Amino acid sequence: NGFHPTGGGKLPFEAIAPVQRTVDTVTVPSGYDWAPIIRWGDPLFDDSPEFDLENQTGASQAKQFGYNSDYLDVFSDGGNDRTGFLVNSHEYTNENIMFSPEYLKSNPKDVIEAAIEAHGLSIVDLKRGGKGQKWEYVRGGRRNRRITGSTLFTVDGPAAGSDLLKTKDDTTGTKVLGTLNNCAGGTTPWGTVLSGEENFNQYFVGTGAEAERRIGISPGPSSRRWETVDPRFNLNNEGYANEANRFGWIVEIDPEDPKSTPVKHTALGRFKHEAGTAVISRDGYAVVYSGDDERNDYAYKFVSRQKYRKGDKKHNMTLLSEGTLYVAQFNGNSPESEIDGTGDVPSDGDFDGWGRWIPLVKNDRSLVPGFTVEEVLVNTRLAADTVNATAMDRPEDFETNPVTGKVYMALTNNSQREAGGLHEANPIPGNRDGHVIEMTERRGDHAAERFNWNILFLAGDPAQEGNHAYFDGVPLDQVSPISCPDNLAFDSEGNLWVSTDGQPGTIGYCDALHKVTLEGRNRGLVEQFLAVPADAETCGPVIHDRDNSVFVAVQHPGEGGDWGAHTSYFPDFVPEGPLKGDKVAVPRPAIVQVFSTTGNNG
Ligand code: FEO
Ligand code: CA
Ligand code: CA
Ligand code: CA
Repeated sequence: NGFHPTGGGKLPFEAIAPVQRTVDTVTVPSGYDWAPIIRWGDPLFDDSPEFDLENQTGASQAKQFGYNSDYLDVFSDGGNDRTGFLVNSHEYTNENIMFSPEYLKSNPKDVIEAAIEAHGLSIVDLKRGGKGQKWEYVRGGRRNRRITGSTLFTVDGPAAGSDLLKTKDDTTGTKVLGTLNNCAGGTTPWGTVLSGEENFNQYFVGTGAEAERRIGISPGPSSRRWETVDPRFNLNNEGYANEANRFGWIVEIDPEDPKSTPVKHTALGRFKHEAGTAVISRDGYAVVYSGDDERNDYAYKFVSRQKYRKGDKKHNMTLLSEGTLYVAQFNGNSPESEIDGTGDVPSDGDFDGWGRWIPLVKNDRSLVPGFTVEEVLVNTRLAADTVNATAMDRPEDFETNPVTGKVYMALTNNSQREAGGLHEANPIPGNRDGHVIEMTERRGDHAAERFNWNILFLAGDPAQEGNHAYFDGVPLDQVSPISCPDNLAFDSEGNLWVSTDGQPGTIGYCDALHKVTLEGRNRGLVEQFLAVPADAETCGPVIHDRDNSVFVAVQHPGEGGDWGAHTSYFPDFVPEGPLKGDKVAVPRPAIVQVFSTTGNNG
């Protein structure tokens, strides 16, 4: 079928063929198998109730694994192959396939309270027989924890305590209940986890204010109607005008300490945060890259004021409290006439150029005329709109290559990229399939204020008409079709792994995980490793190639279906019958481990 068998690497595989969008299973390469580790509703604690679809409440869901798994990391305890833990975020809920129509109707309050508790993150202990083997989750594990839409957070950084963050429930502007729409994230070099609060706008009823509009909060009933149960979700209610300002941050969690209070870091700005990828710069500063996932919004980075101290977690957990917040400007180096919307490479041989990191805030000072530091951090988009930042095609995940230090950003798509607004860094009109940009910070220093960039690939299905696929010179009959890149990861050898969100609606295939070779003669080669079930998005991913495993979070399986007309029954595959117990007849977001059955890697 023209797919290119790959050799080498610690997880050698032959690319699978793309999988038709209705296929309801996890598809893996020959020589590999998969198993779920934990699913929505699985009990986390000794006293957790059994999963029961007809009896879901806030109290039950608060003790069970949450819904719509997104960011994932999997840790093996130091020097121990048999115990570990995972951290996973739960982005949002799909009520129409979580609850029966009867339950939705008769228990509206329970439904909303369960949904609030299904959001957030889970931390779950793991165990296994030894290296390279399958993990199982540990019910009642010492680190097990649910963080939800009602968990207490503290707020730090220059906007903590600002009038813009005060409500009648929190007159200090420093204590927030809950985290919402936690999308991609990152594990810090000091062992904490960062999570981005992304599309938090959808939970609030707006007042019509400009700052609300810029972040997508509109007046009128919210789609989830949480305002009917908790007045803080309606910004028109007295004392709650600022409640939405308390969401849209990067949050930091210490997964090793289940009693710790997680923190919202205002120093990193407020927008639809996707990812929070932390790396230590050449000179020892903590740097966090984060995208704002919106059509024509921006890419950001934060550089800490203080330096990282190896082994001093307490100190390192203060690094994201103060520093410089930057927004990115991308400049092309080819004539505009060569960016003609065809996807043809400019005559200098690449979609490439240089860029600037434009500072918005330095420590406690605003660098944006007309904005106080609090205003820049709370209404970051409005501030960035004034400084010539570059409007991008929906910045999703950012990752840094552990081998080369280069930085990668997924631009998932942009239906609003106008033909008249093309740009060398965003060169496709109506960009349906997205692209990935490779950035090299000046002198290889993550704290630098200048960078060079190039497009690693323009996604697409080369076999389909009207595609713009370009993979840095790799023959198009050798690449797997790919569309809507979202989450990124690296293996130990510096290969990029790209998961997708949206392929079913663009190129007609199930969402997927692909390996992309970055160095050598196969640079640009995209090879599909797996496909997730019908209507699901591939999240995570985590590549433990030295440990025989790839992990993915299967998010929103069966999202396009409805109760009684499900398009997926993953991962229990019980098409009808029980609504209670270990296997149920609905799709369940889950964490999946993929492993080589020959185990001869590493
Ligand atoms: Fe939640 Fe931008 O993906
Ligand atoms: Ca160029
Ligand atoms: Ca995402
Ligand atoms: Ca997504």
